[in-house]
Amino acid sequence: MLRTHTCGELREEHIGQQVTLTGWVQKIRDKGGMIWIDVRDRYGVTQLIFEEGKTSKEAIELARHAGREFVISATGEVVKRLAVNDKIPTGQIEVKVAEFKYLNKAKVPPFMIEDETDGGEDLRMKYRYLDLRRGIVRKNLEIRHEMLQKTRSYLSNQKFMEVETPVLIKSTPEGARDFVVPSRMNPGQFYALPQSPQTFKQLLMVSGFDRYFQIVKCFRDEDLRADRQPEFTQIDCEMSFVTREDILETFEGLIRYLYKEIKNVDLGELPHMPYSEAMSKYGSDKPDTRFGMEFVELNELTQNNGFVVFDSAELVLGINAEGCAEYTRKQIDELTDFVKRPQIGAKGLVYLKCNADGTFKSSVDKFFSEEDLKKWAEKCNAKPGDLILILAGDADATRKQMCELRLEMGSRLGLRDKNKVSALWVVDFPLLEWDEETKRYHAMHHPFTSPNPEDMEKLNSDPGNVRANAYDMVINGVEVGGGSIRIYDRDVQARMFEVLGFTKEEAQAQFGFLMSAFEYGAPPHGGIAFGFDRLCALFGGQDSIRDFIAFPKNTSGRDIMIDSPSALDQAQLEELSIGVAVKETND
Ligand code: AMO
Repeated sequence: MLRTHTCGELREEHIGQQVTLTGWVQKIRDKGGMIWIDVRDRYGVTQLIFEEGKTSKEAIELARHAGREFVISATGEVVKRLAVNDKIPTGQIEVKVAEFKYLNKAKVPPFMIEDETDGGEDLRMKYRYLDLRRGIVRKNLEIRHEMLQKTRSYLSNQKFMEVETPVLIKSTPEGARDFVVPSRMNPGQFYALPQSPQTFKQLLMVSGFDRYFQIVKCFRDEDLRADRQPEFTQIDCEMSFVTREDILETFEGLIRYLYKEIKNVDLGELPHMPYSEAMSKYGSDKPDTRFGMEFVELNELTQNNGFVVFDSAELVLGINAEGCAEYTRKQIDELTDFVKRPQIGAKGLVYLKCNADGTFKSSVDKFFSEEDLKKWAEKCNAKPGDLILILAGDADATRKQMCELRLEMGSRLGLRDKNKVSALWVVDFPLLEWDEETKRYHAMHHPFTSPNPEDMEKLNSDPGNVRANAYDMVINGVEVGGGSIRIYDRDVQARMFEVLGFTKEEAQAQFGFLMSAFEYGAPPHGGIAFGFDRLCALFGGQDSIRDFIAFPKNTSGRDIMIDSPSALDQAQLEELSIGVAVKETND
C-alpha cells in the first residue's frame, strides 16, 4: 500500500509513530511560518502540519502550492495537537510532515466538497464522482452496502437461494411502460427490460427451488418522483408451500432484523390493516401511521342544513388538528390555498375552531347552530383548543384531498419525525380496478395474484368486489414492499386473463409459457418484492431515493454526467433495423 494508515484511523495511541497518509486536500491554512492541510479519504480527515525550520523547504513549497482536491502523500510523525478538535475522531492528533508529494494535481472543483455544499443539484449530478466524495453522500451508500450484505446473509441463512434471472426479456405486465432494446439478430423485434422478475421467479418455484431471492435491477418507464427511479433495485423473493401468514412472518422477520442490526430499533409485530380501513381512515393505501388524525365521516351531522357544498357532497370528511384552534386567518388561508392547488384540487376548506373557552367559531356559522358545531366536535373527539378541518365532495376525490391535507398538517405539527418508525401490513387489496377509459378491469397488483379464497366464486359474478390475496408493507407512509399469493392453476390463470380482457390467443401468446408450466406440477407459492432504494432512504432518514443510488437519473430520466439517453448514428440504427423507420418518419 502507498499508505500506512487511513485518514480516519489515527488516535492518541499512535503518537510518536511514523506514518504515511494519502488522500485528497480538503482545506489549506497558510499562516506564513506554519501551514496546515486537512487530508481526506473515505474514512475521515486528518490534519497535517508543516513548520518552517522543521519541515523540509521542498515539502513546504509543495504544501503552499497545493490546491483543493490534489491527491497527496504525506509522511511524518504523529504528534499531540495543541488545539484539540472534538468534532472529528482524529481531532486529538496531527501529523508533523517530513516528506510530502503530489500523487496527482486537480482542477478547482466546481463546488465545495463539504457536507454543506454550494453546488446545485444539476452541477452535483454532472460531477457525481465529486459529489460522492462528500461524507454525507458516501454515508448513504455505506448504509446501502450494509443493508445489501445483511439482507443477503439473512435470506441465505433462511435457505433462500439467490438466482439471477435474465435482463433481456419480454414484457411483464407490471403496470408501467417497458424499456425496450432492439434485437440486431432479429430485425424488427425487441427485448423488454424486466419491470420485475415476476414470471421467472414463479417458474423457479415450478422448478422446485422452494425459496428464491434476488437483489435485482428493475426497469420501469414511468414518470419520476422522489421515490421513483427508472431503474431501481428490488429484494425480490418467492416461496413455495406457504400461506399468506408464512410470507408475512418471514419477511417481517427480514425487515425487523435489518432495523435491529442497522438502526438498533425494535420494530415489534406489524399490525395488519385491510385496504378498506386504510382508505376510510387515511384516504391512502400507504398510510403514514406515525400520527393519528384519522378521518371522521360527518355526512349525517352536516347535511340537509341548507349549506349546498355539504348537501351536494357524496362525502363530508373532517380531521382534528389538535391544539390548532389558535391558527390565524393567515394560517387558515395558507391551508385553503394548499388544498386548492391544482395537484390537490379541492374547491375550498371549512374549519371549526373549538376555542379554549368552550365556544365555537367556524367558517360556516351562518348555516349551523352552536349545538350542531358541538356535535361535530364530539364526533371528531375534539377538545377545547383543537381545530377541525373539513373537506366535502365526490368520495374518492375528497379522500385523496384529505390525505394530502392530513400529511401537510402532520408535517406542520412535527408529527412525521424521521427517527420514529411506524410499520404495518396493508392487506386485502381489491383484485381488480375498473378503468373508465379502456372500459375494462386492470389487475391492481398484477395478473398472477390469486383472489382471496373466500371470494373465488365472485370472480364470475362480481369481479369488482373480489379481494386479492395481496399485501403491501408500509413504513412511515412509504410503500416499501408488495406481493401476493399466486395463482398456480392453469384454468384459474386463464380465467383471470379473460376477466382482464385478454383473448385466449393474446393470453397464449404472452403468457403461454407460464400457463404451460402450471400444467407440469406447479406448487402453491407466493412472494414479495421490496423496493431496496426506498428501504435505504428510510433507514437514512430521507425522502429521496436518489442520494442512495451511486449514479441516479434526474427527474427527466437523464444521466447528465454521461449524457444519456443519447442519439445513435445512422449506421448503428440501420444495423438494428430501426434506421430505416426513423429516417422515413423524419422524411
Ligand atoms: P411492485 O410493483 O409493488 O411489485 O414493486 C415492489 C416494490 O418496488 C418498489 N418500486 C420502486 N422503487 C423505486 N422506483 C420505482 N420506479 C419503483 N417501482 C416500484 C416499491 C414497491 O413496493 N413483482 C411484484 C412483486 C411481487 O408480487 O412479488 C412487484 O414488482 O417499494
